[in-house]
Amino acid sequence: MPSLARRLALGFALSLSAVAAAHAAAAPWWKHAVIYEIYPRSFGDSNGDGVGDLRGITQHLDYLQKLGVDAIWIAPMYPSPQVDFGYDISNYEAVDPQYGSLADFDALLREAGKHHIRVILDMVLNHTSDKHAWFVESASSRDNPKADWYVWNDGIDANAPGVTPFQKRFEHDGKVPPNNWESVFGGSAWEWVPARRQFYYHRFYRQQPDLNWRNPAVEQAMFGAMRFWLDRGVAGFRLDAISTLFEDPRLRNDPELPGTNAQGDPNLQSKYSDNLPEVHDVIRRMRAMVDKYPGHRVLIGETYTRDIADLDKWYGGARRDELQLPMNMLVGFGSHARFDAGWFRKTLEDSQTVPGQPLIVFDNHDNPRSIDRFGDGRHDVQRAKAIATLLLTSRAAALTYYGAPLGMTTATPTRKEDVRDPIGITGWPKEKGRDGERTPMQWTPGPQAGFSSNPRTWLPVNPNHATVNVQTELAEPGSLLNWYRTLIALRRTNPALRDGAMSFLDRTDPDVLVYRREAAAPVTVLVNFSGEPQRIKAGIVQGAVHTLAATDPALAKATTLDGATLPPYAAWIVTPAR
Ligand code: GLC
Repeated sequence: MPSLARRLALGFALSLSAVAAAHAAAAPWWKHAVIYEIYPRSFGDSNGDGVGDLRGITQHLDYLQKLGVDAIWIAPMYPSPQVDFGYDISNYEAVDPQYGSLADFDALLREAGKHHIRVILDMVLNHTSDKHAWFVESASSRDNPKADWYVWNDGIDANAPGVTPFQKRFEHDGKVPPNNWESVFGGSAWEWVPARRQFYYHRFYRQQPDLNWRNPAVEQAMFGAMRFWLDRGVAGFRLDAISTLFEDPRLRNDPELPGTNAQGDPNLQSKYSDNLPEVHDVIRRMRAMVDKYPGHRVLIGETYTRDIADLDKWYGGARRDELQLPMNMLVGFGSHARFDAGWFRKTLEDSQTVPGQPLIVFDNHDNPRSIDRFGDGRHDVQRAKAIATLLLTSRAAALTYYGAPLGMTTATPTRKEDVRDPIGITGWPKEKGRDGERTPMQWTPGPQAGFSSNPRTWLPVNPNHATVNVQTELAEPGSLLNWYRTLIALRRTNPALRDGAMSFLDRTDPDVLVYRREAAAPVTVLVNFSGEPQRIKAGIVQGAVHTLAATDPALAKATTLDGATLPPYAAWIVTPAR
């Protein structure tokens, strides 16, 4: 008989109950899914060029299946000049040669299917690359067939009243941009094109011109690109920067906020350049299109919202005819997010109020890794286990990011000359870019962490791969990776964790978060957010309990919560003993 810790780690104790099996048949697959984001440059390099590729993903499907993921979301792997590492797409219906071919993609889809893993693609609808044939044509004159596919404007007279010093910096031939809108990545959002003697709008890099979604031909073309992949069998899309499709037709100035950003430009509130209501009409039509396909294809949104009421809109409110899974970024990325029981009680409770299924996120390719954001430098792995517990035992679909289950850390460049992400160059040293969370996947303690045979990887391999890697962690029952595996196995098979309503048991405890997932056999989750042992309050769960999982194997010996103590940062998941 393996040790208890090992049984917990490997999920041996779990068996698929009849109830869970019945649910699995009824509910759409995405409702309980664990979705795993892959940054294709950094996951597996099959051809030794130092850059990850599609075959490199296919080679690691066994690992993903054993981890228990239901779907992978692959960040853009379409042809691209790679200014924004794939988020500048020059052809929506092909694969970038550095990542492979369409045949490689089809093989990946097929093999993933054999591993019961669905494939979700990233769809960048707001903008294309400036090298996309549509933009090249659009920029060539004012009267070509694609002239109105992007957001063009004559600009205004540099001496017109109300022109700001910021606008004046971008003067061309006596004209300045029509308003104060800024690129998210710095500078004016307007770029001058001599051939048209006009500016075009770009919310992101100037190599990412915004499409004009007021032109029905644009919608038709982009929906066509989506169908291209749906027809091949993808399970859905993660919609990039979806809130930014439309801009104010009157081009009113965005209100200025106090202070300046990393590039030294005034801070703005994107009142007229983000979240325009027109986007919801597009999404409703998109949802109707996607729903025509069999197999519950899913639309996931990159939806950074101010609050939960704003998130609600992305579901289509009570009609629920828009995104099935807009991302809840409030729990993991909220501006006040911190490793604190009160913070998570509040935001997780809020997360349950949306009309559809919540999707919780702590990590992605745009933000420092959660192990660093929520760590204290000394108990990072313990704290990461607590975060994993919230991610995987809340009533929600769960989104994770390659390396997060290992505790890969953010390796931000220390010298400007090493930075690859352009914002890290223009924003240095205030903004060091996003390279730190995009370093090669750590498979082994060996050379290049088993990511590539080439010592020159596109970003350096983090030296901590000596200990933080798949091979080493699989062999350690108490590793973060095995904690993820345990939790994923549990949420798949336990009816309360699959579907049970989530209620919070002690609303005042500053250190311990306790919630219950309701079902015939309810499950109680306890997490100690403090670095001190915490005695569990009497009466939280009455009667004898059975441990489903615990970060500290000694907890599993307890038969009741009364009088028990949670070690620092411990997570404990129990159900009534039968
Ligand atoms: C999204 C992506 C980010 C990209 C931006 C522009 O925020 O996640 O990586 O730079 O959109 O496409």
